[in-house]
Amino acid sequence: MADKIRVLLSEEEVNTRISQVAAQISKDYEGKAVHLICILKGGVFFTCELAKRLTVPVSLDFMSVSSYGDDTKSSGVVRIVKDLDEPLTDLHVLIVEDIIDSGRTLSYLMEVLKQRGPASIRLCTLLDKPERRVKKQVKVDYTCFTIPDEFVVGYGLDYAQKYRNLPYIGVVEL
Ligand code: IMP
Ligand code: MG
Repeated sequence: MADKIRVLLSEEEVNTRISQVAAQISKDYEGKAVHLICILKGGVFFTCELAKRLTVPVSLDFMSVSSYGDDTKSSGVVRIVKDLDEPLTDLHVLIVEDIIDSGRTLSYLMEVLKQRGPASIRLCTLLDKPERRVKKQVKVDYTCFTIPDEFVVGYGLDYAQKYRNLPYIGVVEL
């Protein structure tokens, strides 16, 4: 049976907000180039939409991490499945994530990437679920939307690998 999905953030709302955040990032990085690190797979739709709207020079790299756990919970043990292609030395790095939940993935990744000598490193997320934060030290520099503790899909986010292609953010009614 098909899952029931309730719209939480419409395509228009998401796109409008991404444009606002992109304008802010373009302003903050004026005179510099920004190196976007897309966290696969969830971050891919957001990364593209964000990158298209940036007015500063952009380069892109991709990383895939997996946190051991089931579909709806992360365990805190993070494994790099696909590493970056390029070094980060002297680059202004902006990590682009779909969602920060417990913060475990990003707290681990930040530590790993800081060791690679970037000129700066910041974090940008489409969604933030602060109620579920375990790693309180994770500092999010750019957040498009803060959402309540609900399991969401769409715009890159999946439920058992489904629904990443929805053009809006929805809640799966389990
Ligand atoms: P964290 O390490 O708990 O912050 O987990 C972040 C990762 O868990 C995200 O990159 C997503 O892959 C996944 N995740 C957390 N919440 C959701 C959700 O509501 N929908 C889909 N994936 C989620
Ligand atoms: Mg993810």
